[in-house]
Amino acid sequence: MKFFIDTADISEIRELAAAGIVDGVTTNPSLIAKTGRTIEDVIKEICQIIGGPVSAEVTAIDVDGMIAEAERLASIANNVAVKVPATWDGFSACRALSTRGLKVNVTLCFSANQALLAAKAGATFISPFVGRLDDLGLDGVEVIREIRKIYDNDKSFNTEILASSIRTPLHVKQAALAGADIATVPPGVLRNLAKHPLTEQGLASFLADWDKAGQAIL
Ligand code: E4P
Repeated sequence: MKFFIDTADISEIRELAAAGIVDGVTTNPSLIAKTGRTIEDVIKEICQIIGGPVSAEVTAIDVDGMIAEAERLASIANNVAVKVPATWDGFSACRALSTRGLKVNVTLCFSANQALLAAKAGATFISPFVGRLDDLGLDGVEVIREIRKIYDNDKSFNTEILASSIRTPLHVKQAALAGADIATVPPGVLRNLAKHPLTEQGLASFLADWDKAGQAIL
């Protein structure tokens, strides 16, 4: 499973990219708004740091508006993936944009049927929102499981499942087990994946014993 980071924070992106485990970045209008900078400046800078897909979302809600905004966003860099919502207009825009060779991420997906429509419309990525479904007492990971099955049943589909709205390390593990191709993970959650008290405890005791042995490897 690939890891994208779900942030528009440039210093976080630089730091995590240096660890060599970041395959792409996702942003949304809320994350861009938080930076206080223009979407063009932020996306351009992220694309200079990350070679993989960088998602930038349209804010128009009609087909023509979405297509015009998506073309503008895609002109920022070759690795921009344009995000359109899982609405009827969004699916029409997705078909038009994917036919023109653009990478399209269909976002705000909350059901297997929306994912089915996205694949029919030629989406590069479908983004089911796990955390927001869980917030309503529904099962976000189950939606990923259903999408995996539907996509595996039709070999003509070429859409990757991008588990989104990931809130916890448990979500990451469950998305991987459910067959997501990618998880987009907030920086704090990504860092927490490495944490285990037994690792920290074990390391401390190995180092204490090594200190007593008085040896050095170099
Ligand atoms: C990513 O593409 C989504 O916009 C993001 O994962 C949403 O996460 P949230 O539900 O935590 O805002």
